[in-house]
Amino acid sequence: MKACTMLAVQADGARIITIEGLASGEALHPMQVAFREHHGLQCGFCTPGMILSGIAIARRHGTPSAEVIREELDGNLCRCTGYINIVKAIEAGARAMAEA
Ligand code: FES
Repeated sequence: MKACTMLAVQADGARIITIEGLASGEALHPMQVAFREHHGLQCGFCTPGMILSGIAIARRHGTPSAEVIREELDGNLCRCTGYINIVKAIEAGARAMAEA
């Protein structure tokens, strides 16, 4: 299942996690660390969506291949076209999440 667009009213009563809610105090989420370490961003415009999608992909697939990550990111657009490092970051973040 890929991420999908939904109306805000469809999230009524749901638990919503934003990029600001990922870190625990000063400790970044493993996917945030992976994006920093693998240069998974350029201007940063798409980064919150890419990180949250990366976490969702890791939760669905464990440690997914680059091919699976690319398929799952279909629809997540990076106007800087930094997909190579985004995919590397998600691979690393998923491995870190699996080890945690
Ligand atoms: S890093 Fe600029 S839009 Fe993705």
